[in-house]
Amino acid sequence: MSEMIMVTPLSLALGAEISNVDLSQTLNSQTWQTIKKAFDDYSVLIFKDQHITVEDQKRFAEYFGDLFIHDHLLPLTLEGHPECMLLHNDDKTPPGLNHWHTDNSGWKNPPLGTMLYAKITPRIGGDTLFSSMYKAYDALSKPMQDFIKPLKAVHDVKKAFGAEYGNLKKSLKKYRIDCDSHFHGYESMLHPMVRTHPETKKLALYISEPYITGIEGLSLAESKMLLTFLYNHIQTQEFIYRHRWQTNDLVIWDNRCTQHYATADYFPFERLMHRMNICGEVPA
Ligand SMILES: [Fe+2]
Repeated sequence: MSEMIMVTPLSLALGAEISNVDLSQTLNSQTWQTIKKAFDDYSVLIFKDQHITVEDQKRFAEYFGDLFIHDHLLPLTLEGHPECMLLHNDDKTPPGLNHWHTDNSGWKNPPLGTMLYAKITPRIGGDTLFSSMYKAYDALSKPMQDFIKPLKAVHDVKKAFGAEYGNLKKSLKKYRIDCDSHFHGYESMLHPMVRTHPETKKLALYISEPYITGIEGLSLAESKMLLTFLYNHIQTQEFIYRHRWQTNDLVIWDNRCTQHYATADYFPFERLMHRMNICGEVPA
């Protein structure tokens, strides 16, 4: 008889390891319900030692929702699988993405989750840090919570893929992706700085430094002061789980209540991830 699925928390803030699940197989409803509940409870789930194909990864990701296709990243996807993006760095392509963020917040409906499957991991480095935006919000004083709750931030794709984050722009250029022309017509989005998670109903801080250009109704100086404080605040160690990758790890995180930071410290080692995004709702 197969062993019972197990959920083991990895920090007090967020993150849990799920064991005794084989993601190369379809899940029975009890197993899926346990995973779904753990996703809501812990925001980041780790499945170790999974031997899965891209089809298996897609099937598992689709339990969470429809898969998100990034038009601007098609040259970086696995042939025949536009939902599967290859994150690949080695001695010729150094890693360069190292900012705290929540994925694609410059879109109207940012993806609810992101899933990475580790195909090749560096001998040292390349950890991903996750910070709980529930914890970040809860740790603010009541007057500060009341001040930011009605505020909306301006998220602009053109900032994240522009000159300020030149590494990203430069690395996409290698794949003949011209960010300036691709995002030319994209309008900035107003998203609440505090959002209610649609499943847990808990409040989470929702900010994303690479995308945010300001806060609606505040002067530039006021926006900068508040955002600088919040960008530092989300890096509080007590909100964080740091994942040290091993080959065949599969990790899924909830972009609605977490931020992550991909440590770009492993050059010249090779790292290859298969990344999928799950469609999300408009932040509210
Ligand atoms: Fe990301």
